[in-house]
Amino acid sequence: MSKNSFYITTPIYYVNDKPHIGHAYTTILADVLARYHRLIGQPTFFLTGADEHGQKVQKAAEYSSIRPQDHVDQTVVRFEELWKKLQITNDDFIRTTQVRHTNVVQEILQDLYNRGDIYQAEYDGWYCVSDERFFTEKDLVDQDCPECGRPVERIKEKNYFFKMSQHQDWLNQYIQDHPFFIQPDFRRNETLGFLRKKLNDLCISRPKTRLSWGIELPFDKDYVTYVWFDALVNYISAIGYSKNNDRFTSWWPANYHLIGKDILTTHTVYWPTMLKAMGLPLPKTIFAHGLWLSGDTKMSKSLGNVVNPMDMIDRYGVDALRYFLVAEMTLGQDARFMEENFVRRYNADLANDLGNLLSRILTMITRYCNGLIPACDPDVLNDEPSSDLWDTIQLAVDKMEQSITDMRLDQGVAQVMAAIRAINRYLEIKQPWHLVKHEDKTPLNITLYTAAEGLHVCATLLYPVIPEKMSVVRNALGLSDQEPDMAHLRTWGQLKTGAAIKQIKALFPRIEIHRKKTETEKPSTSLKKENTMKTEIGEEKVEGLISYEDVSKVTLRTAKILEATKVENADKLVQLQVMMGEERRQLVAGIALYYDLEELIGKTVIVVANLKPAKIRGVESQGMILAASKGESMRLITVDGELSSGAIVK
Ligand code: ME8
Repeated sequence: MSKNSFYITTPIYYVNDKPHIGHAYTTILADVLARYHRLIGQPTFFLTGADEHGQKVQKAAEYSSIRPQDHVDQTVVRFEELWKKLQITNDDFIRTTQVRHTNVVQEILQDLYNRGDIYQAEYDGWYCVSDERFFTEKDLVDQDCPECGRPVERIKEKNYFFKMSQHQDWLNQYIQDHPFFIQPDFRRNETLGFLRKKLNDLCISRPKTRLSWGIELPFDKDYVTYVWFDALVNYISAIGYSKNNDRFTSWWPANYHLIGKDILTTHTVYWPTMLKAMGLPLPKTIFAHGLWLSGDTKMSKSLGNVVNPMDMIDRYGVDALRYFLVAEMTLGQDARFMEENFVRRYNADLANDLGNLLSRILTMITRYCNGLIPACDPDVLNDEPSSDLWDTIQLAVDKMEQSITDMRLDQGVAQVMAAIRAINRYLEIKQPWHLVKHEDKTPLNITLYTAAEGLHVCATLLYPVIPEKMSVVRNALGLSDQEPDMAHLRTWGQLKTGAAIKQIKALFPRIEIHRKKTETEKPSTSLKKENTMKTEIGEEKVEGLISYEDVSKVTLRTAKILEATKVENADKLVQLQVMMGEERRQLVAGIALYYDLEELIGKTVIVVANLKPAKIRGVESQGMILAASKGESMRLITVDGELSSGAIVK
């Protein structure tokens, strides 16, 4: 059966926890990838769901004096509602208490038991309820769980075991032979490190006397199966394993199991050995992303520092949250969730760069072209600023495509934002407000068409990330309500000349930060006005200091100096060519008296990236380089150590 299809999964989440920003993150990421693959025409299946068995659920239900099934029926709704609100386009939502799942788990258990892959023996070890994991004495760290640091329970009882150890050598070899099986690379190495120790057989049962809330072992009514042996099977039970072979083989093996790094071992050791025993191929890639931290610490219910995605959506909107999570985290690494960073990025990228661009284009087309997309000859690409701009936009198309393959969505999004800033700069250079005064309207039309077409391509690229707002942009540019067409992003001229544009209110109203006055005051829910939203963060305003909002207007980025030449007839000025990420810029700086030109090449400096371009002694400067001066000396502010250019300075 063909496997042109794309099958992506998230972990199935424990329902007794309230969903937080971490759960939202994995699911949004999967949604962006699923939407992207659908848009490029690939048959796509996106699965998420709920992990409803286990000791944690049983304990929570006992605590509330209700049946475990009633407990999970109540709590699963929190996840279902969140996914709806976040506009998640999952094709299925599997619950491990559904018969379609429990049946398959029992069939697998029976089959492995019949083949001698499961046997009974005495278990003497430790159990962590929070992680629902068994550990041996030597796994423990200071007698606590090696994963979460919580106390563990001693267990000594007869149990059933899956012969996991027999697959150790095979798994080791498989991982080495398939570099994409575990990503990022350093997580693959982590699993290989784990496999250097002797692999034990896996305890896969719990006696009912201790835990009744689970799937009964088909060959011993006194036991239920261990929650991970149950949960992992969701990835195949949902797509018809052992029930509908055609359906199953059309999706399996999965292209991606997206997980957080907290559940690496269960996915890269337990699951592959289970699949091997079942005779099934392994998923193509298990991708473990980093964790969102609250400040510097792990988010956890017990520390009371979890960020509730519903609150963020209510305050700032769905797309703002989706954008931030995708743009901010370097996939694979941990990231800090700080509301101030959120607001800063929102104002810089969404309100300033993207929102302002749309509003400028709409206003000018309304005023100068009667509200209709102007005519534009494809020969426009012979005009240098326009063709340069088109090249930058095409680079964003390439980079987005590449970032999907490389799982570096943050980089794809950054390149689209660079293209959006380039369109803003293009308008500054072309100055349509002057062109409108010329009798020949061709240059004006070319300029406005090119800017609008560029924005249309960027909106299409961002559509999987922020679908709601990008539909608004498409509509405003006179495009249909249909989903965008990814297939023609490289063909100039998709916007229809003569199509009526629609004026809209601010796409992303700026967020004004108001400092909270007293401890007892609650953060305000957003007050949405046409162009601004207000939010309250932090402490009281102090006279004489600038507000956070003032700082957040400035975007600082790192840039690498490629070339340095003297500006003619200006003793103090140097003209620099720099790379800011993928973007090349020209800067003029008054540093000629302090540096030899060769000395500047290769330095990574800090640049005010959103400064309006200006001509200095006739040479355009597209930003400002930061330097510190005292008395007679001046030194550039540079980066301490290796960091690729284009990074945001926070
Ligand atoms: O482990 N940052 O469920 P779970 C980023 N039921 N992502 C986070 C996160 C954070 N701070 N916290 C949680 C389970 N996640 C099992 C899974 S799968 C067969 C069974 C995300 O509710 C991340 O994807 O504890 C992590 O792996 C998952 O939620 C854990 O969810």
